[in-house]
Amino acid sequence: MNLAIIGTGYVGLVTGACMAQMGNNVICVDIDEQKIDKLKKGIIPIYEPGLEEIVKENFKIGTLHFSTDIKEALNKSEIVFIAVGTPQGEDGSADLQYVLAVAKDIGRYMTHPLIVVDKSTVPVGTADKVRATIQQELQKRLESGEISQEKFNELMEFDVVSNPEFLKEGDAVNDFMKPDRVVIGADNPKSMEKLKELYAPFTHSHERFIGMDIRSAELTKYAANAMLATKISFMNEMARIAEAVGADINKVRVGIGSDRRIGYSFIYPGVGYGGSCFPKDVKALEKIALDAGVEPKIVKAVEEVNRTQREYFLSKILNRFGENLQGKRFAVWGLSFKPETDDMREAPSITIIKALTDRGAKIKAYDPKAMEEAKNFWLKNIKNIEYFDNKYDALNDADAMILVTEWKEFRSPDFYEMQKRLKNPIIFDGRNQYNKEKLQGIGFEYYQIGVK
Ligand code: UDX
Repeated sequence: MNLAIIGTGYVGLVTGACMAQMGNNVICVDIDEQKIDKLKKGIIPIYEPGLEEIVKENFKIGTLHFSTDIKEALNKSEIVFIAVGTPQGEDGSADLQYVLAVAKDIGRYMTHPLIVVDKSTVPVGTADKVRATIQQELQKRLESGEISQEKFNELMEFDVVSNPEFLKEGDAVNDFMKPDRVVIGADNPKSMEKLKELYAPFTHSHERFIGMDIRSAELTKYAANAMLATKISFMNEMARIAEAVGADINKVRVGIGSDRRIGYSFIYPGVGYGGSCFPKDVKALEKIALDAGVEPKIVKAVEEVNRTQREYFLSKILNRFGENLQGKRFAVWGLSFKPETDDMREAPSITIIKALTDRGAKIKAYDPKAMEEAKNFWLKNIKNIEYFDNKYDALNDADAMILVTEWKEFRSPDFYEMQKRLKNPIIFDGRNQYNKEKLQGIGFEYYQIGVK
């Protein structure tokens, strides 16, 4: 099929590349000329395992194109995906200005009736707004005489469907190629069939294809993210309780995960969730509920626990070293919000590093992929931070090591080497990566989440 994907962020680029990989003819469009030029040269703006290869391969064989010309892209397509950002607005809700600007362009330039797919995470009711915006533009074209009544009637056959994306950063290509499910919200059976056909190579059998009405599909995305965030906040709260009563959350985690109804995944306590989705979507869901007259008690608590979880972790460091950290140096392992990505959005490391440097500490940081991103943007204004090319060099003469992101290379480091380099053999582990008995056995002072 011929597809246009508007927006080359995480979701857009992965969708475009994976759709091209399955043999579709895809044009990815972005207003950012520099980004498009770079993509044409095979330079990918994000670090995402496996993405660069399929972008380059499909660009080379001509199934994947990059352009800034939305008009031409629409002209050549049957289906257009809206995959632009929906940042958090001032009142907590998702800001739809980019989505509706694309809808306007679609109405303005459409030459044949398109299926418009909302792939961005958008509040319930957005498909109706997209539809109305496109209709308004078509009406204007009719009134100005640009199109005949006959053409107008033909174009009004366009349709809007919802197709929320569930991919995880760091595993995005895999998630897209082998999804747990593909959710399509469509009111028109013809569009539903078309999307089913498009996704058939990814869903193999149709079991993984879940069709529903538009509003349910829109809410499914928020419900999924809020449910996952709830699991994390629940475990983080449980970790604080475990620590207070002298239990070990790591053991409790295994104890409850073995119940298949609970499961082992997404119950790891830590420094709280970050990233571009959970924090924003949980807040947006709260706003959706309030606007609909429902008081969202659980969703609110999930957010509150997440915010205070970073303070809880920080308090371990302050309890050990005192409020005044003048003259103290801390090595920080891991800056990105999670492993296998260079994404720093809402990364717990930002809050933790800020709190430490505000109290006079110096930071020696190392991350396998996110240092450029951190240095040039997210931690640009923090003076007392030095970056190192490898994890051991960051430890030299530090008062303690703080593990914030659980990259694989931190999993079994050379603890003797660490001891040699650190001023004090102290580890604050925000991701419960190590074995307490083992570390204490070799002389470390070891602090983790949810263990006394
Ligand atoms: C998430 C959803 O998983 C995905 O389906 C959706 O499309 C976008 O949002 P992502 O933001 O890429 O994906 O990251 P994810 O792997 O879900 O992790 C989110 C955050 O939760 C991270 O900060 C991670 O460290 C934290 N987390 C995750 C925990 O603290 N404990 C866990 O057990 C799992």
